[in-house]
Amino acid sequence: MGYKEQIQLDRIPRHVAIIMDGNGRWAKRQGLARMFGHRRGVETVHNITEVAAELGVSYLTLYAFSTENWNRPKEEVDALMALLVDTIVKETPTLMKNNIRLQAIGDLARLPKVTYDKFLSCIEQTSGNTGLVLVIALSYSARWEIIRSTQMIAEAVKEGKMLVEDINEEVVSSYLTTSDIPDPDLLIRTSGELRISNFLLWQLAYAELYFTDCLWPEFTNEEFYHAIVDYQHRERRFGKTSEQIR
Ligand code: IPE
Ligand code: IPE
Ligand code: MG
Repeated sequence: MGYKEQIQLDRIPRHVAIIMDGNGRWAKRQGLARMFGHRRGVETVHNITEVAAELGVSYLTLYAFSTENWNRPKEEVDALMALLVDTIVKETPTLMKNNIRLQAIGDLARLPKVTYDKFLSCIEQTSGNTGLVLVIALSYSARWEIIRSTQMIAEAVKEGKMLVEDINEEVVSSYLTTSDIPDPDLLIRTSGELRISNFLLWQLAYAELYFTDCLWPEFTNEEFYHAIVDYQHRERRFGKTSEQIR
């Protein structure tokens, strides 16, 4: 039996977040330049987005470019920004066809103008869609986000709009870029790296983590189903005892 058949459709994770890693290594293994891996990675994005929508996942967050990725060689950064533009133009009809709404989190002001404009126009165009919410983390890092929210909260206190003792989990969450998005239930990272790399540090507090050696360009739909099945076999206790949650 394939993994798809093993999925319990009434227990689909509401929010799946993915650290899409291994494009460069995939290309290198084929004797190709890193950009070939990124281009191939876009095909995986296309497939996994469609499959997630089909399964009834409500939110899919994809880590596409981190704050730290700005430190890569300029040629790779420029080529990635151009690839993002091509992809968004090419994929907007797919998003419309599948009733998918695009959102972006991160320091978007750092993006080249054309990349920023294309993203904004796709976000606008898909804003009325009611199916899967596809969140792209772009120029994103969790520490950047936490610093930004701390500054905004401090500002609110300074202006007398909030008391220090009013600051609680809900308040902090509401100042993050993910304020209107529930926390991820499942985090997938490809390429065998066992780390978080500055992704959604606050929001992942109780996420189930799934690591696979598979490189992102070769992450198939079947691999995605496998991750969902694995997730469905976990017991999420949120600090309680097993007996309490049964
Ligand atoms: C992930 O693949 C994509 C981005 C970070 C933009 P990598 O480019 O990190 O691929 P590896 O890790 O070098 O194989
Ligand atoms: C994490 O991948 C960021 C994205 C997938 C966009 P990296 O390849 O940048 O992570 P590290 O440097 O190996 O931790
Ligand atoms: Mg990497």
